[in-house]
Amino acid sequence: MLPEQRSTNQNTSNNSSALDANQLALLQQATQSYSSLQLAWASGYLAAKSEQGQNVLAEPIAEVAAAKTLTILFASQTGNAKGVAKQLEQSAVTAGINVNLKNIADYKAKALKSETHVIVVASTNGEGEPPDDAIEFHEFLLGKKAPKLPNLSYTVLSLGDSSYEFFCQTGKDFDERLKALGAKQVAPRLDCDVDYEYDCEAWIASTVSSLKDELTQSSVAAAPVAELATAGATSTYSKQNPLAAEFLVSQKITGRDSAKDVRHIEIDLGESGLTYQVGDALGVWFENDEVLVNELLAQLNATGDEKVSLKLNGTQQDVSLKDALISHLEITQTAPAFIQFWAELSKDEALLAVASDSNHAREFAGNHQIVEVVSLAKIAVEPQAFVDNLRKITPRLYSIASAQAEVEEEVHLTVGVVSYEANDKTRIGGASGFLANRLEEGQSVRVFVEHNDNFGLPESDDTPVIMIGPGTGVAPFRAFMQQREAVEASGDNWMFFGDQTFTQDFLYQVEWQNYLKSGLLTRLDVAFSRDQAEKIYVQDRLREQASDVFEWLERGAHLYICGDANRMAKDVHQALVEIISEHGKLTIEQAEDYLKSLRSNKRYQKDVY
Ligand SMILES: Cc1cc2nc3c(=O)[nH]c(=O)nc-3n(C[C@H](O)[C@H](O)[C@H](O)COP(=O)(O)OP(=O)(O)OC[C@H]3O[C@@H](n4cnc5c(N)ncnc54)[C@H](O)[C@@H]3O)c2cc1C
Ligand SMILES: NC(=O)c1ccc[n+]([C@@H]2O[C@H](COP(=O)([O-])OP(=O)(O)OC[C@H]3O[C@@H](n4cnc5c(N)ncnc54)[C@H](OP(=O)(O)O)[C@@H]3O)[C@@H](O)[C@H]2O)c1
Ligand SMILES: Cc1cc2nc3c(=O)[nH]c(=O)nc-3n(C[C@H](O)[C@H](O)[C@H](O)COP(=O)(O)O)c2cc1C
Repeated sequence: MLPEQRSTNQNTSNNSSALDANQLALLQQATQSYSSLQLAWASGYLAAKSEQGQNVLAEPIAEVAAAKTLTILFASQTGNAKGVAKQLEQSAVTAGINVNLKNIADYKAKALKSETHVIVVASTNGEGEPPDDAIEFHEFLLGKKAPKLPNLSYTVLSLGDSSYEFFCQTGKDFDERLKALGAKQVAPRLDCDVDYEYDCEAWIASTVSSLKDELTQSSVAAAPVAELATAGATSTYSKQNPLAAEFLVSQKITGRDSAKDVRHIEIDLGESGLTYQVGDALGVWFENDEVLVNELLAQLNATGDEKVSLKLNGTQQDVSLKDALISHLEITQTAPAFIQFWAELSKDEALLAVASDSNHAREFAGNHQIVEVVSLAKIAVEPQAFVDNLRKITPRLYSIASAQAEVEEEVHLTVGVVSYEANDKTRIGGASGFLANRLEEGQSVRVFVEHNDNFGLPESDDTPVIMIGPGTGVAPFRAFMQQREAVEASGDNWMFFGDQTFTQDFLYQVEWQNYLKSGLLTRLDVAFSRDQAEKIYVQDRLREQASDVFEWLERGAHLYICGDANRMAKDVHQALVEIISEHGKLTIEQAEDYLKSLRSNKRYQKDVY
């Protein structure tokens, strides 16, 4: 046996040389704020120390301590803030700055005390709430136990959507609280709306350049960009660089007499190499309906040939008004700012009254498309002024309804077509209408995968799962079942599905019944709200099965909710609190803590919209 082999074997067979749990925890705590470069340095240092005994190299420690690191923390629900944080990381590394990029979920807020420079990139979720991953950090930082931070320099980049009442609230919360704790803001906070890309790019460039001198003076040499930047990136396709995939199938899966039009969509990713995991979402770019654009042009008294200038891919370009309205601008979603613009331009009293009350304007925008607002007060407008007051088109996300283990290079979606009647006209959603009515089989559709760290099957195949997915919320659970079947997972699976009627709206009914028959699906509970006089919802079924639900949770089940964020997810959460309180003999507050602890252990996950 060679000496090297002997020493390796000795190390692995001698358990007493391994760290015990306390030592490991201490090591994890001590190194959690290290950048990848510092971790690499520390591992070399420890290796040298193990060879040379205790009296080794005090100097390099001092060198690392003196080196300033920029810690970038991202708080993201659907991936945008994470993407921006990675862009920021890349830009800082290129400037020679030592960077430590962290998901805020993996960062102990107490470690802020030992930081010198932090940038938080945070989106806002719910109604002015932090993304799931940031809830604990947010609670700690805003609470009484947060440390004073006189030595910290920081800034914040927030992502949000100005149609929401609490615009960029999470970023604002972090900013205000860090300031109150004594930290110094080194660059102004940027609050970004839905078309955030170019604002972020400019902000990143100016922030990195303002921090560069301070952060590179005593820094250890920067690692090559390729080593540090965007670790874990698996695909070249992204929101800005989507794949042109082949549209295969759009099949209506609600009955002829249903009040809803829900489509099962199949898309072929071909040989692109684009992959996804169950729980991820697919981003879909779309074009507006030409018929709707023509109606809007007629209202504006325009031909569509008028030239307008738009900033596209970072450069100002001339396009026709018609092209701008079909391919580049939102005309189905309305932002409150557009109502303000149109009210002021038209001086229409009713619209001015709506615009003067921000809550009313937000609500009005939520149930009127641009064409409806314009039709309320027709007025001549300069084409350029009109397009300057519209938002850029943003892709819509759809929870993926398939597992690659089953469908290989395909991706399936479950799309509810947004459709309503107003003034004797049927109005349709931009993306759902594109997928359901305008795309033809064989045509191409631009897509990208939005990975969701906050929604996925448990690591262990024998862990039970409880899935609550009424309506289109069923989508990711179809993917979960395909995955569990493919890997022959032994864990129990319990599905709660609900929709309006059994005969018209039982989405993927045959598949669920087959899974039940094969034994893969352990239990299926359904709530058809309109099959009887009294509404029955999924939370009623949860309450009926309360003691079993609690028993599943106690034996380690993971709990998932997908679908409507505004009402269903909140009501289901409330039902779960009551179930846990009653069957766990806990107060309501303790039951909330029980769910909080499930959430921080990734056992309570939501994909709601
Ligand atoms: C993470 C995530 C996952 C998602 N997964 C799914 C999924 O699996 N399946 C799914 O179907 N959707 C899903 N969605 C929602 C999806 O992204 C789109 O929001 C949805 O398809 C509507 O987009 P649209 O472009 O068709 O409609 P838009 O063009 O965005 O909206 C149409 C506009 O019409 C108006 N409007 C809509 N309804 C009414 C009404 N009743 N009365 C008056 N005015 C109205 C409003 O002004 C609205 O803004 C998900 C969303 C997220 C964030
Ligand atoms: N943010 C977005 O852009 C966007 C776009 C599209 C859809 N959505 C949301 O996505 C949801 C999914 O739409 P969907 O048509 O597939 O299903 P859905 O409207 O959620 O309906 C599914 C079932 O849930 C029931 N339900 C209604 N209120 C409930 C509550 N408080 N608790 C539990 N169940 C409740 C419905 O009953 P009844 O209808 O009989 O009351 C129906 O039986 C929509 O509700 C919508 O809010 C959001
Ligand atoms: C369910 C839901 C709730 C949202 N709530 C808010 C909000 O209260 N305030 C806000 O400014 N933006 C809100 N947004 C918009 C997001 O913050 C915005 O889309 C952001 O780019 C998402 O970034 P992320 O992908 O990193 O989570 C919400 C988005 C969704 C889907």
